[in-house]
Amino acid sequence: MAQLTVSEIDLHYGAAQALKKISIEARPNAITSVLGRNGVGKSSLLRAITGIQPISAGSISFDGTDLKKSAPYNRARAGIGYVPQGREIFPLLTVKENLQTGYAPLKAKDRNIPETIFELFPVLKSMLSRRGGDLSGGQQQQLAIGRALVTRPRLLVLDEPTEGIQPSIIKEIGRALQFLRDEMGMTILLVEQYLDFCRELSDHIYVMDRGEVMHSGPASDLDDPQVKRHLMV
Ligand SMILES: Nc1ncnc2c1ncn2[C@@H]1O[C@H](COP(=O)(O)OP(=O)(O)OP(=O)(O)O)[C@@H](O)[C@H]1O
Ligand SMILES: [Mg+2]
Repeated sequence: MAQLTVSEIDLHYGAAQALKKISIEARPNAITSVLGRNGVGKSSLLRAITGIQPISAGSISFDGTDLKKSAPYNRARAGIGYVPQGREIFPLLTVKENLQTGYAPLKAKDRNIPETIFELFPVLKSMLSRRGGDLSGGQQQQLAIGRALVTRPRLLVLDEPTEGIQPSIIKEIGRALQFLRDEMGMTILLVEQYLDFCRELSDHIYVMDRGEVMHSGPASDLDDPQVKRHLMV
């Protein structure tokens, strides 16, 4: 079962502590969202889960296996797909080549681009030979999600997928995440600042403030003034 369990993790950058005893869970067939203002540690949490940034205390397990000794590459192989903040697509590679960078953790027989990606994001199919850098921000975000899907993740982790994206594409991304949850049974973990997107999509939310989880509950809790207080700028 593609269950993610983050248990009391700390993360430091030198002497500065970015995460303090963070515990969250994400389960299959569900969209779990972590909300928080700028700089509260959302990306740090995802970097800890993907193994890009080491943790200084606590544990992270996926599928019942402790990830402590697992490098980012092995976490990708284990089924953790990552869509980083700012998308990080390769501007000079074509759309097709960008998607093919997702082959790295796959066995030779699995090295193909699933048709589902083009069903979710038809624009990628029509732009396969265009350079990544020629795409709009929203199209690049769809490409970054597509690239993560090429790795056949069972857990998909997304860092602010709506940031700087036009509303029509945000809707498409929301529909894609619902499809991946409902039809593919995927475990989805999302960090966001866009409350309306999360209220509509999430099965469970966590609210972070200054490196700590301040609240855990259903998406409807986003209407609670006590919860909103942590999210006001
Ligand atoms: N590589 C780094 N070295 C030192 N400090 C860092 C580094 N990355 C992040 N930080 C600090 O850690 C804290 C948490 O940053 P993080 O990027 O995780 O926040 P965030 O919630 O993702 O913010 P945003 O909404 O702006 O993306 C901030 O105080 C930030 O300045
Ligand atoms: Mg961030």
